[in-house]
Amino acid sequence: MSEERTEGERLAELAKRRGFFFGASGAYGGAAGFYTFGPQGATLKSNVEEAWRDRFTVQEGNFEIEAPTIMPEPVFEASGHLDGFDDMLVECPDCGESHRADHLIEDATDIEDAETLPIAEVEDLLVDHDVRCPNCGGRLAGEPVDDFNLMFETNIGPGSSTPGYLRPETAQGIFVEFPRIKEYARNSLPFGATQIGRAYRNEISPRKSIVRTREFTQAELEQFVDPERDEPDLDAVADVEVTLYPATEQEADDGEYVETTVGEAVDDGTVGDPWIGYFLGIAQEWYEHVGVDTDRFRFRQHLAGERAHYAADCWDAESEVDGDWIEIAGFAYRGDYDLSKHSEYSDDEFTIFRQFDEPKTVERAVVDPDMSVLGPEFGGEAADVQSALEELADRDPDAFEGETVTVTVGGETKTVDTDVANFRIEEQTVSGEHITPHVIEPSFGVDRTVYTLLAHAYRQDEVDGEERTYLSLSPAVAPTDVGVFPLVSNVPDLVDRAEEIVGELRAAGLDVAYDDSGSIGRRYRRQDEVGTPFCVTVDRDGLEGAGPDTATIRERDTARQVRVPVDSLVTELQAVERGEKAFDELVEAYELVAPGTDA
Ligand code: GLY
Repeated sequence: MSEERTEGERLAELAKRRGFFFGASGAYGGAAGFYTFGPQGATLKSNVEEAWRDRFTVQEGNFEIEAPTIMPEPVFEASGHLDGFDDMLVECPDCGESHRADHLIEDATDIEDAETLPIAEVEDLLVDHDVRCPNCGGRLAGEPVDDFNLMFETNIGPGSSTPGYLRPETAQGIFVEFPRIKEYARNSLPFGATQIGRAYRNEISPRKSIVRTREFTQAELEQFVDPERDEPDLDAVADVEVTLYPATEQEADDGEYVETTVGEAVDDGTVGDPWIGYFLGIAQEWYEHVGVDTDRFRFRQHLAGERAHYAADCWDAESEVDGDWIEIAGFAYRGDYDLSKHSEYSDDEFTIFRQFDEPKTVERAVVDPDMSVLGPEFGGEAADVQSALEELADRDPDAFEGETVTVTVGGETKTVDTDVANFRIEEQTVSGEHITPHVIEPSFGVDRTVYTLLAHAYRQDEVDGEERTYLSLSPAVAPTDVGVFPLVSNVPDLVDRAEEIVGELRAAGLDVAYDDSGSIGRRYRRQDEVGTPFCVTVDRDGLEGAGPDTATIRERDTARQVRVPVDSLVTELQAVERGEKAFDELVEAYELVAPGTDA
């Protein structure tokens, strides 16, 4: 069977024709980087989200939250996104089109990670390779490359006094609410908080369909841990097999994938942090469950220059489509970066009290300033001077070694006699200490996962002498669970029975599509193309034969059909849909209907 189009082109055509996704606002010429998920795509995406929620929130015993998508500017000052969330922009002097300079360099050279290069080097490479504008062919050599911040800015309320930003990651909504979420976790580590929601990045050049868009859905888990005490349940995933592409292998001339297990990878240090190893393991199993082709899937470690500003180590889950590797999830060790920053920039408490095994006696620097002196000397500022002295004693006891000590209050230096400050070292018994939790973050791109699932499920074969296209989607995510048809639409008994079956299957929680239009063969093909795993057909034999009434169940990938009593349809379909039973077991238990009767 000849197929000239690329995988991406075939997918885009099927996605539009069958209602998975299409460019948004087409009536007004569209807006690059925005997509609408159609009826099939919206359900597929929501099933992916539900499967993720089940594995990463429910099964892990985590808390799910839903924070606003717009947050005020100080949040992003603290998070580092205002200063550091940039891509490299170069503009064509001839047509004015904007491009990501690092992507142009990657297209023009063998360099795979040009975003890690300094801007000056990228400018030089534009010259050395005489890089041209992909839009008009204009010369980009000699054009300046600038940092471009990817956040969408807006104003909160009328006027411009309160700038806000559409969140570039759902994660910040979790970090900012940490002081409240920790209460629900009874102030005890470890715990995880999750969020599934929209994020926004004003990409310089959105590309590759729903892979790089300006509005997209993330499913993120922030795992808060005590780095000295908490360990994941690594045994639960120790035997999970993974394909790893560590930084050292990427940098070696003859670098190779490491085929290993999660347990071995953590033991031998290939994966440095056990929490990251744990999440790679459950992610591997989850991707298999939702239908990613594991032969086209790997975990790749970030190179040092590639990591986000908050990450100490990071591994990406990558899927292969059209020969390119797409980042579909990131597993970052964010350390205490985010909580420390929010602690520094806000008035809230981003720590957890860690109880010692036994109370400890510690030496503490304390002051007890003589207010009868500070009051007359500093008037209304005396209390602030007192607080500043207390804070200084805690932070820098050596500052009290001289005859006077200075503090800053309201931007002014205040000098106090050390005797008046009453500085001393006291022994105290303490039962614990406040620590800033560390964060391990599995962050999944939902749209990219949907794209991967569609690409990896796309199949073509021949059934009953006809070419067919079908999507071999996992029943865990397929938009429709079961198609139900009367064999012909002009026999009321068949239609009535088919409608009864639809009602029963829907009442049992299955997502059902009823179709009585066109030949039965065409109806099967329609469901095959949107990945419906099973179809039920009501025929005359099923109503008129001896014994209980029956209908056929057809399995999408093999087009095999079995005849099953109508009374057993719900149970059998639920079992195969949930993966509790293989279709082969139905073939063993029931009469196999001869091929060809479905055309
Ligand atoms: N939270 C990680 C990311 O958005 O890439």
